[in-house]
Amino acid sequence: MIEVRGLTKRYGDVLAVDDLGFVVEPGKVTGFLGPNGAGKSTTMRMVLGLDRPTSGEALVNGRPFATLDEPLREVGALLDAGAVHPGRTGRDHLRVAARTHGIPLRRVDEVIEEVGLGRAARRRVKGYSLGMRQRLGIASALLADPRVLLFDEPVNGLDLDGVRWIRELLRGLAEEGRTVLVSSHLLGEMQQIADRLVVIGRGRLIADATTEEILRGLGHLQVRVRTPQPDALLSRLREHGLTVRRVDRHELLVEDSTAEEVGDLANASALPLHHLSEVSQSLEDAYLTLTSGSVEHSSRRAELVGTTTEGAR
Ligand SMILES: Nc1ncnc2c1ncn2[C@@H]1O[C@H](COP(=O)(O)OP(=O)(O)OP(=O)(O)O)[C@@H](O)[C@H]1O
Ligand SMILES: [Mg+2]
Repeated sequence: MIEVRGLTKRYGDVLAVDDLGFVVEPGKVTGFLGPNGAGKSTTMRMVLGLDRPTSGEALVNGRPFATLDEPLREVGALLDAGAVHPGRTGRDHLRVAARTHGIPLRRVDEVIEEVGLGRAARRRVKGYSLGMRQRLGIASALLADPRVLLFDEPVNGLDLDGVRWIRELLRGLAEEGRTVLVSSHLLGEMQQIADRLVVIGRGRLIADATTEEILRGLGHLQVRVRTPQPDALLSRLREHGLTVRRVDRHELLVEDSTAEEVGDLANASALPLHHLSEVSQSLEDAYLTLTSGSVEHSSRRAELVGTTTEGAR
C-alpha cells in the first residue's frame, strides 16, 4: 500500500507537486497518468525517499521509506533504465545487487527467467536494446521480491511485444496481491494496463477513480444543435436537466446527450431545428483538455467525469 497525503514539492519557482493525495491499494494495477512535467517522477522519487517533500508525506506500508527496516524487500522500483554499469553483463549487475542486499544468488536466475532476459543476461549491458534494458531494470526491481512496486514509464520505447509483455507482467504482480503503481503520459496505454487511474496535471490531482469510470467520463458525447429559436430550446433542454452551452447566436452545445434526445425534446416543444449532430471527442483529445486546462477547468472536469477530487482543492 502506498499513501500520499498533502504531498508538495517545490523546486525554486516550480511547484512540481502540489498538495497531492491518493492511495494505491494492493491487488490492483494503478496507473499514474499525467502529461510531461505533471509531477509523476517527482512523486515517485518522494515515495522512494530519493527526494524530500517540501510538505506532506508519502508512506509505504504505513511508514516513510526512510524508516523501513528492509526497504528493498518492501518496495522495488524501475525509475531510470539507463542507470547500469555498461561494461557488466546483466547477470553480473543483478548478482552484485543481490550480494549487496543479502539476497540468495539463485534468485538472480529466477528473475532473469521471469523478465525473459534469457541468454542476453550473459551479454554486456552496453550492447542491450532499450527493451532489454527495461527488462533488466524490472529484474532489479523484482530481485528482493517486494510487495510494493513502482514503475516510471516502463513502456517508453518498447515495441508491441514489449508492451504486451509488461501488461501481463504487471497484471500478474497485482494478482499475486502486490501493490503496483505504473506511470505514463499516454492514456491509451494506461487504459489497457490499469484497473484504477490517478490522473495529475501541474502537480495537482485531477481524477482518482477506476479506469472505466474515467474513460466513461472522458468519452462523453456532445450534441451540436442549430435553431432559429435558441433561447426557447435552451430553456427547454435545461428544464430537462441537461447541461447546455451557447456556441453562437443560433447554435447550442449539449453535454452528455444524444441527437435523439435533443431532437425529441425540440419536437415536443414544436421548435424547428436547422442542424443536429453528435460530436464525439476522441479520448486522447478529452484527456488533453482535462490535463492541460486551468486548475478551475480541470477540477470542473473531474466533477464532470464523476471522480473524487479529495486532496485537490
Ligand atoms: N530536480 C529538479 N529541479 C528543478 N525542477 C525539477 C526537478 N525535477 C523536476 N522538476 C520540475 O518539476 C516538474 C515535474 O517534473 P516531473 O519530472 O516530476 O514530471 P513527470 O510527470 O515525471 O514528467 P514526464 O512525463 O516528462 O516524465 C517539471 O516542471 C520539472 O521541470
Ligand atoms: Mg517522469
